Amino acid sequence: MLKKILLGLLILLVIVQFIRPSRNQSNAASVNDISAHYTVPDDVQAVLKKACYDCHSNNTNYPWYTNIQPIGLWMQNHVNEGKEELNFSEFATYQLKKQAHKLEETAEMLEKDEMPLGSYTLVHKEAKLTKEEKELLISWAKSLQQQIASQVTK
Ligand code: HEC
Repeated sequence: MLKKILLGLLILLVIVQFIRPSRNQSNAASVNDISAHYTVPDDVQAVLKKACYDCHSNNTNYPWYTNIQPIGLWMQNHVNEGKEELNFSEFATYQLKKQAHKLEETAEMLEKDEMPLGSYTLVHKEAKLTKEEKELLISWAKSLQQQIASQVTK
């Protein structure tokens, strides 16, 4: 009985390898990227790229193990969900009010240590932010949020 179950699982695992989730990679010039419209200092950009862009942009870096299912599927799910909530590559397409709100959320997520996702920093050690990196992002997000909010006609 146990042997049959294990064999069944093994077969399932083999079959699932044939599922290839579509990849989040774009060669298009990112004309709507946040950095094309607002000031994103190099050090802020570097932190965003290493800790957030995998799930919140149009370009994800795929480590080798994401070729193994169901890891790849799981990762793709996070990317799709993350992008839907906030996509820095499409930031300029948001209405100003939404832009300001997303920056407010960004600061909040960082303050609460909710982003980057814990399951992600577990394997992406470089994305684990130092206190300084976190503060850098928070103060950038807050000041840009205020700048944008002040443009919103009340
Ligand atoms: C491994 C993928 C992943 C990484 C890396 C990641 N996020 Fe997320 N993010 C998500 C997912 C999935 C959601 C939506 C579900 C949730 O809120 O937990 C989300 C939601 C958010 C939201 C909420 C938007 C809203 O309006 O509620 C913000 C803000 C955010 N992320 C900011 C960041 C920042 C800033 C970083 C980098 C420091 C980051 N995320 C890194 C996957 C990720």
